[in-house]
Amino acid sequence: MAEADVPARETSGALVLQAEEVSVRFGGVAALTQASLRVEKGSVASLIGPNGAGKTTLFNAVTGMVPAATGRVLLEGRDISGLPPHERARAGVVRTFQNLQVFGNMNVLENVMTGAHRRLRYTVLEAVCKLPRYWREEKKARAIALDCLDFVGLTDLAGAPASDLPYGKQRLLEMARALAADPVLLLLDEPAAGLNPRETKGLGALIRRIRDERGVSVALVEHDMDLVMGVSDSVTVLSFGRVIARGTPAEVQKDPEVIAAYLGGDEGGDEGEGDA
Ligand SMILES: Nc1ncnc2c1ncn2[C@@H]1O[C@H](COP(=O)(O)OP(=O)(O)OP(=O)(O)O)[C@@H](O)[C@H]1O
Ligand SMILES: [Mg+2]
Repeated sequence: MAEADVPARETSGALVLQAEEVSVRFGGVAALTQASLRVEKGSVASLIGPNGAGKTTLFNAVTGMVPAATGRVLLEGRDISGLPPHERARAGVVRTFQNLQVFGNMNVLENVMTGAHRRLRYTVLEAVCKLPRYWREEKKARAIALDCLDFVGLTDLAGAPASDLPYGKQRLLEMARALAADPVLLLLDEPAAGLNPRETKGLGALIRRIRDERGVSVALVEHDMDLVMGVSDSVTVLSFGRVIARGTPAEVQKDPEVIAAYLGGDEGGDEGEGDA
């Protein structure tokens, strides 16, 4: 692992996310056992661990995509455990996926507008009949999407078919679409998978800007340790579904149990190995 090169930042200490003691089973497999993840407001909190450790499952439990057998999920102190995924999204829990999910039949701007639609208010009737409020809201979605495209540096490609974009730019498009949904908490599942070193560096800078300029709190799952150590305010380490360490990047890198989990486990977990 690379040396952490960022000094600890001051945060308010308020928690945006508290996923507490979450357990998830798939048949006979205990994917998560009493695992907790906390994200402070205005911070980047990373979740790392070897392949199969349960990282994506914990994200899925936070977004409501898999049911948890135990535990609860609080967003800004409010228990959202009972809400279905779309209501958690409406409350501000927004994610990107380990496998790239871009709508290839739409152009870049339209892709990002689908993110903004969560924030709009019109009825099906208003949309079908193209009533004035529908047009007003569409205009708003367009403005939000253009702003987010500008933020990630894709303005020039707004009209291009999304499927024509090179892979690295499609990843940026996903980030813009997630930002368009106005997240309180942004969950990024291996955003650097498949990126080259230059693109990964740019992604690190973008994640910091999302935190610092947009005030969005970020939970990051990533195998690229240089990226993790460079952007994280805190790191939680999972191994076989259990949290084995948490702390600052510097603390976690020195933890003998963490080193053993990465070096000794038979789960794999090679550094920098994107496996989307
Ligand atoms: N839908 C599912 N059905 C059955 N088992 C599952 C399902 N999803 C995940 N698992 C199992 O749960 C465990 C945790 O998987 P998960 O995808 O959360 O790991 P991960 O830490 O995200 O791994 P990776 O780094 O490879 O993405 C693994 O043993 C996996 O095979
Ligand atoms: Mg995963």
